[in-house]
Amino acid sequence: MLLVILLLLPTGSSVTIGKIDNFIIVGIMNSSLARVSLEQCLYIATSTASSMISTTSSSTTETSSTTSETSSPTLTTQSLGRITQAGDTIVGLYNTTAGGSTGGKNGLYSGPSETPIYAIDGSTSTKYFNYGVTGGSNTTANAPGIGTGFYITPSISNASIAVGLLFATANDRPNRDPLSVSLEGTNSDACDSGSSWTLLYNGSTGINVTSEPDRMTYGIQQNFSNTTPYKSYRLLITSKRGPDDAVQYSEAHIIGYT
Ligand SMILES: *[C@@H]1O[C@H](CO)[C@@H](O)[C@H](O)[C@H]1NC(C)=O
Ligand SMILES: *[C@@H]1O[C@H](CO)[C@@H](O)[C@H](O)[C@H]1NC(C)=O
Ligand SMILES: *[C@@H]1O[C@H](CO)[C@@H](O)[C@H](O)[C@H]1NC(C)=O
Ligand SMILES: *[C@@H]1O[C@H](CO)[C@@H](O)[C@H](O)[C@H]1NC(C)=O
Ligand SMILES: *[C@@H]1O[C@H](CO)[C@@H](O)[C@H](O)[C@H]1NC(C)=O
Ligand SMILES: *[C@@H]1O[C@H](CO)[C@@H](O)[C@H](O)[C@H]1NC(C)=O
Ligand SMILES: *[C@@H]1O[C@H](CO)[C@@H](O)[C@H](O)[C@H]1NC(C)=O
Repeated sequence: MLLVILLLLPTGSSVTIGKIDNFIIVGIMNSSLARVSLEQCLYIATSTASSMISTTSSSTTETSSTTSETSSPTLTTQSLGRITQAGDTIVGLYNTTAGGSTGGKNGLYSGPSETPIYAIDGSTSTKYFNYGVTGGSNTTANAPGIGTGFYITPSISNASIAVGLLFATANDRPNRDPLSVSLEGTNSDACDSGSSWTLLYNGSTGINVTSEPDRMTYGIQQNFSNTTPYKSYRLLITSKRGPDDAVQYSEAHIIGYT
């Protein structure tokens, strides 16, 4: 630290100009604004310096307490809840599996009122319906609708930490219920590239497997361990209850910290 002291001295005063430790003393002649002796200046300089030192140490203390306050909210004030909501950017997918690149966008919807936005609208009376690759009238296998889903960029945060999934059944046809799902996360904008994605979960949707649950009803939230924040997520259905022409669900929410 270098402290510059300006001495405003009256005409004719003698002045010493020099440097003492970290202080530079500069004399300015011919001013009647100040009547300050060199001794007084040194006293001011010393007390200013010590008050600056104590200011510095107290701001250091404040900085370190600020630092600890900044790190604790990551544990105490982050809120856990749905990180997906109506209005998020969402892209329908079909013919796609975890780790792979986008096999096809959108898919075969039954109509404009059953697109992916209805999976995150908060209403169990609307649904997302996708025939996928082999859908339509083909009800001979479980395949129709498998490999469908979406990727989504939650607007609530660019760095959410996903730790759960919550599905709700649609209005009809229990064989279209999704029973298992994969969830991946990415911080890349290259959402169509398989290499962008990291697998976070691969398992049950929480919709009851052994008994057909009520229609338009939430399943059991599925939880998984994850501490990495992601900007976007990809959810893909890997199985459904039985032979039918499509996969459908009224809600599919990612649960996490924001
Ligand atoms: C200081 O002021 C006096 C008059 O008040 C003047 O005669 C003298 O030249 C001045 N000195 C300088 C260095 O300006
Ligand atoms: C599904 O994706 C594969 C590549 O992963 C592609 O070869 C095939 O043509 C796609 N099928 C449809 C119906 O889009
Ligand atoms: C129906 O789906 C099955 C299983 O994916 C497939 O093998 C079959 O070729 C499909 N039939 C038609 C008519 O598309
Ligand atoms: C996310 O990032 C975009 C730009 O990359 C910004 O416009 C937006 O406000 C950010 N959202 C949040 C919730 O921070
Ligand atoms: C997900 O689980 C299924 C069933 O256990 C398994 O066949 C599949 O390979 C898994 N997918 C990934 C990407 O690990
Ligand atoms: C599925 O439903 C059956 C019948 O209601 C119930 O006994 C079982 O506990 C449920 N399974 C789960 C995982 O909730
Ligand atoms: C997941 O966590 C939620 C909230 O704590 C809890 O209600 C639910 O039962 C958990 N799910 C499972 C399958 O344990």
